[in-house]
Amino acid sequence: MESLSTGIEELDILIDGGYPKGKSILITGPPGSGKTILGIHFLHRNCKEGKKCILILTRELTEDILNQSHSLNLDLKPFLENGQLTIKNIFEDKMNKIKSASKFGKGLCAVNTDIIEYLSSISSEVDVVVIDNIGVMAINHDIREFADEFSSISIILLKNGCTTLFIMDEDSYNLTHRLTGYMVFGLIRLTLQENFKSGKTKKYLYIEKMRDKAVPVKYSLFDITSEGVQIITGIR
Ligand SMILES: Nc1ncnc2c1ncn2[C@@H]1O[C@H](COP(=O)(O)OP(=O)(O)OP(=O)(O)O)[C@@H](O)[C@H]1O
Ligand SMILES: [Mg+2]
Repeated sequence: MESLSTGIEELDILIDGGYPKGKSILITGPPGSGKTILGIHFLHRNCKEGKKCILILTRELTEDILNQSHSLNLDLKPFLENGQLTIKNIFEDKMNKIKSASKFGKGLCAVNTDIIEYLSSISSEVDVVVIDNIGVMAINHDIREFADEFSSISIILLKNGCTTLFIMDEDSYNLTHRLTGYMVFGLIRLTLQENFKSGKTKKYLYIEKMRDKAVPVKYSLFDITSEGVQIITGIR
């Protein structure tokens, strides 16, 4: 199966070449575990290779992501400027539309339809899609509605042949009974291990599944440095 580089050499080795082309991968983990940074690596590498990429943001400011990518030496701004990367910021679109703060909570509930509407309009030439964070789709939705809408999004992306990274915070992932984990082709979980003695947190990446690929069933220790995600152990 053809793969697209994750943007991290050691992770490409772990996943036997990278993320499977045209498939959906879910990245989940607690706050600050490196989910967005994995998305930045993936976008940066594929933009650099001339692919057409889309980043959909539901909770963060575009400016913050651009600054984060710049500080990691994985600057996304040039690709935004040359049109290779499109950023659709559903959160900012809502902020601009909603005048009264009291209506804001209600506004966020509609992100699902916004994402579906937007994805229905994208060109078939899009290679890579990163959605950060689909957890907001679970807000005020019952599990069946959420599953239906997640399926719709997955089907649109699959039909378009997009290689997709769904980023989902761990709380929403658990709240939705880890349903999205069953629905995607690949699942990567990031975990944090607190060590009160040393005061340092250890980060582990676990490739829980990658259909059609032989992946090591083990936790790989990683760190986040000024260069982004660096895998320390667990490489075959
Ligand atoms: N230059 C750097 N050097 C070391 N660590 C860094 C650097 N830049 C970011 N980090 C670490 O990366 C973490 C942020 O990673 P990231 O934004 O990918 O997390 P996340 O899983 O997306 O979190 P959230 O769920 O809040 O969106 C920060 O908490 C910080 O500890
Ligand atoms: Mg994030």
